[in-house]
Amino acid sequence: MSSGISGALVDVMKKEFETYIIPKGWEDKIESIEDWKKFYQSTVNSKEAVVKWWESLANEIFWFKKWDKVLDDSNPPFYRWFVGGETNLAYLCVDWNLQKGRKNKVAIIWEGEPVDERGQPKEVRKLTYYDIFRETNRIAYMLKEKLKVKKGDVVTLFLPMIPELPLYMLALQRIGAAHSVVFSGFSAEALAARVIDAKARIIVTADGLWRRGKQIKLKEIVDEVVKICEKEGHKIEKVIVIKRLGNEVPWNPEIDVWHHEILEDIPKNVYVEAVPLGSEDYSFILYTSGTTGKPKGVQHSVGGYAVHLYATMKLIFDIREDDIYWCTADIGWITGHSYIVYGPLMHGVTVIMYEGAPDYPDFTRWVQIIERYGVTIFYTTPTAIRMLMKQPEEIYMKYDTSTLRIAHSVGEPINPEAWRWFFKVFGREKTCTSSTWWMTETGGILTGHYPGRGKILPLKAGTNGPIFPGISCAVVDEDGNICKPGERGYFVITSPYPGQLMTLWNDPNRYIEVYYGKYKHKGWWFYTGDYAMIDQDGFIWVLGRADDVLKVAGHRIGTAEVESAMIKHQAVSESACVGKSDPIKGEIPVIFTVLKHGYLPSEELKQEIKRHLRATIGPVVSSDAIIIFVDSLPKTRSGKIMRRLLRGLIEGKSLGDITTLESEVAVEEAKKAYEMVKASLEKGTSSE
Ligand code: PRX
Repeated sequence: MSSGISGALVDVMKKEFETYIIPKGWEDKIESIEDWKKFYQSTVNSKEAVVKWWESLANEIFWFKKWDKVLDDSNPPFYRWFVGGETNLAYLCVDWNLQKGRKNKVAIIWEGEPVDERGQPKEVRKLTYYDIFRETNRIAYMLKEKLKVKKGDVVTLFLPMIPELPLYMLALQRIGAAHSVVFSGFSAEALAARVIDAKARIIVTADGLWRRGKQIKLKEIVDEVVKICEKEGHKIEKVIVIKRLGNEVPWNPEIDVWHHEILEDIPKNVYVEAVPLGSEDYSFILYTSGTTGKPKGVQHSVGGYAVHLYATMKLIFDIREDDIYWCTADIGWITGHSYIVYGPLMHGVTVIMYEGAPDYPDFTRWVQIIERYGVTIFYTTPTAIRMLMKQPEEIYMKYDTSTLRIAHSVGEPINPEAWRWFFKVFGREKTCTSSTWWMTETGGILTGHYPGRGKILPLKAGTNGPIFPGISCAVVDEDGNICKPGERGYFVITSPYPGQLMTLWNDPNRYIEVYYGKYKHKGWWFYTGDYAMIDQDGFIWVLGRADDVLKVAGHRIGTAEVESAMIKHQAVSESACVGKSDPIKGEIPVIFTVLKHGYLPSEELKQEIKRHLRATIGPVVSSDAIIIFVDSLPKTRSGKIMRRLLRGLIEGKSLGDITTLESEVAVEEAKKAYEMVKASLEKGTSSE
C-alpha cells in the first residue's frame, strides 16, 4: 500500500456505506438503486449494448464524417473508437459554438491573482467564443505558416493559468498538431526530459506568473531547457514567450520571440481550416508518473476522447446552456485539459479560469469568485477543501454560493469529514456532490453521480459513486477473484471505453505491460494501481494508490522518479521515498536518505538536497518533501528495499512479516531517525 491513508480509510469509509444523503431540492429526483442497476445493466450487458450507448452519445457531437465502426477491438488492448470517423477538437470547441449562435457569448472569464486595495481583482479578461475563434485562427496561422508546424507534430506548452494556454491548445488542434502541456511547477530538467521524449522543437512559455502574491519566473527555466536539450543533441528552434508579468527577461534573439510580436502582422480575420482528423489520430500527449523513474507519455485520441468528454459533461455535470462553470485545476494536469478546456468549451458554456492560489489574499478568494460570477458548477480537489476547512465556517458563509447546483471533487480520496464540510459550506446542502474518480490515462471521468439524467442516486459522504454507464469495472484480489462488497482489493476496469489512452508515446510494450500485465490471465483488464471497495449498492470507494505512486495534494508523483533524482546529488548514495499520510495534502513524500562516505548529515545538507530536488523535478515535489538521513535502508536478503516497512514505521504500525529482512538494525535506525524528525516537526523547530 502506498500510504497509511488507505488502511485507515477502509474503516472510516465503511461507516458511510449506509448513510444516504439527499441534497435539498432533489427529494423528488432520487432514483432507486434497483432502477439504476437496471438502467446501468442495459448499457453494459452485451457488446451491442455498449456500442449502442456510446454511439448514441457520439451522434450528438459534430463529425465531418461519421464512423464506419463504433468499436474495433480486434487488437486488444489497442482499442479503436469511431473508426473511420472524422472530427476536430478545436472545431467542436469553437466553430461549432459559432454555428449554434454562441458567437458573442463569453467563453472564458479569466481572473488574475493580484487584487487592489479593496480586495477586488486587478485584472479580469473576458473572451467570447468569437474572440477565441479569431485568436486561435491567428495562432494556428502563425504556427502553420511561420513555424511550419504540421499535422502530427508535438509542441510543448509550459504556461501558467492564462487564457493563452487554452488558445494555443485549440490552435494546435485546429491544424492537427498535438500539444504536450507540462505543469509550470516542474523544473528545467524535468521539462527538458519531456521535451526531448516528445521530440518537440517549439516551446511556448510566459515570462512568469503570480502565485500567492509572488512573481514566479518561467522563461529562465525554458532557457535552461534549451541548453540541456542542446547538450543532448536535440535542437529547440523557437521559444514563444507570452508577456504576463511585463518584466525584462533574458533574451536569445535567435530562438526567442514574443507571442504578441510574432502575431503582429497576422490579420484579425485570417481563417485556417480546422482539419478533419481521424477519430484515431492523436490529439495530445500528457506526461504522468508511474512506478519507474521515467515519466509516461499518455497519448489520447481525437474522436473517442471527444465523445467521452461530451458524455461526462452532459451526465456527470448536467451541463446547461447558462451554466457558469469553474474547475479549479491547473491545465497542466489532465483535469484541466478535459474539464477546463475541451469538455466545457465543447458544450459552449462560460468557463471561469483563475490564475492563482485559493488562499490569496485570504481564504475567501474562491467563495468570492463563486459569488462574483454566480458559478453554478464547481469542480475542485480534496486538498484544497481540507486547507480551507482549517478556517472558521463563518468566513465562507458570508459569501453567496447558493448559485451552485453541482460541486464535485477529484484527484484523491475525499475523507467523509471533508466531503461533509464541502457539501455544507460550498454546496449549502443542495448540490449534487460526488468524488469523481479517473486518471490521466482514462481521459475523462469514470465514476461519480450523474445528475444529467434528471435524477440522482442518493449521495454518500466520500464515495466515488457508481461506474459510468457503458463501462465495466471490478474490485479484485491479487489473483483477480472478485472481492465481496466491503472487501478491499485492486480496482480494475474490465471493458474498453472511448476516453481511454491509445497507448504510451513511443512505448506500446510498456503500455501493455503497465496496465494489462497484472491480470494477463484474466483477459484485458486495465489495472488502475488503486485500492478500492465496492459497497452493497455498487458504489465505488477508492482508497488510494496500491503501488509506488504518491498523491501529494492530488499531484501524482512516482517515488522512483524522486529516488532517481536523489542519487544525482553528489552526497547521496541511495534513498527510499515513501508516502506519509497528511491531514491536508493527503500524502507527503518522506525520503530516507543514505549519504556517501565523507558526507555528514546536517541541516545545510538537507536544505541543499531539497534545492537539488527543486532543480531536478521542481517545487511540485521539493516543497513538501521530508528528508531523513539514515546509515542504511531496510532491505531483503536479495537487496530489494523494503518500502513496506518504512511506510509502516512512519504510520506507527506493526511491521508485519519481516522474515525476509536482511538486518533489523536498519529498521530500528530508520525508526529512531524518523521519531527525531517527527518530534522536531511537532515542535516546529525543523525546517521541513
Ligand atoms: O489514485 C487515484 C487518484 O488519482 C490517480 C490518478 O491521478 P492522475 O492521473 O494525476 O489524475 C488525477 C485527476 C483525474 C488515481 O489513480 N484519484 C483521482 N480521482 C480520485 C482519486 N482517488 C480517489 N478519489 C477520486 N475521486
